[in-house]
Amino acid sequence: MQIHATVDALRASLNQSRRAGKTIAFVPTMGNLHAGHISLMRQARDHADIVVASIFVNRLQFGPNEDFDKYPRTFEADCAQLRDAGVEVLFAPTETDLYPEPQTYTVEPPDIQFMLEGECRPGHFRGVATVVMKLFQIVQPDVAVFGKKDYQQLMVLRNMSRQFMLPIKIVGGETVRAEDGLALSSRNGYLNPTERAEAPRLQQSLQRIRQAVLAGDKDYAALCQKASAELDSHGWQTDYISIRRQQDLMPAGPEDRDLVIVAASRLGTPRLLDNLEI
Ligand code: PAF
Repeated sequence: MQIHATVDALRASLNQSRRAGKTIAFVPTMGNLHAGHISLMRQARDHADIVVASIFVNRLQFGPNEDFDKYPRTFEADCAQLRDAGVEVLFAPTETDLYPEPQTYTVEPPDIQFMLEGECRPGHFRGVATVVMKLFQIVQPDVAVFGKKDYQQLMVLRNMSRQFMLPIKIVGGETVRAEDGLALSSRNGYLNPTERAEAPRLQQSLQRIRQAVLAGDKDYAALCQKASAELDSHGWQTDYISIRRQQDLMPAGPEDRDLVIVAASRLGTPRLLDNLEI
């Protein structure tokens, strides 16, 4: 696996591949890789000749009181996993490589950036969209793969690519779960053993809501309220559980089809995110 830290070195290598007629699939990450990331790498492989991954913990998408400094950095272990997965190229820039000057031009997503995750993490999606736009300009992939676990992020980036007419196919990768149903996430590492045993309750709550909706319950607000209260009675602090339309993440009404239940709740230190399509 080639590892490049600088934009120039990466561009030179990828230009060579493109001249040889190879297509490129790109999987951006913030490192601390787990089986969920590796499944995205494998999906990327199905879409192009070369898989390029990036590891960059993007300060721009963290709020002032969030875990940027503590975010787990496990570069050597990440490289070993990427090599095993057959990834050809890793882009691992430093902050000065990617932000050599203050990033005063930014990508401002529309109102979707202010709801759900955006309401809890002001500026988060501006930071995500801005770094992904930069990474897209650098890598110029044919395909990019993002996990469905970050459902709203996938939608923000899909819409960004479409509106800016980027010639990049955006692919959503299915969430990988532990055997007990907990969605894999780098932040699961913050859970102590008691919290880890409790953590699957989030997905179980979403499953129960899904069953109720499929059985004909249309009182979405009450269903979500009940699930949220139940979690909180087990020591969670729920930010939101909401039934939304898959197409635009707006609150779902009784006539809407193709729904998704989205949720974020804090358990001990980490805020856990999950979702379930209906
Ligand atoms: O999902 C992530 O890990 C990050 O938000 C991303 C897309 C790599 C941008 O920093």
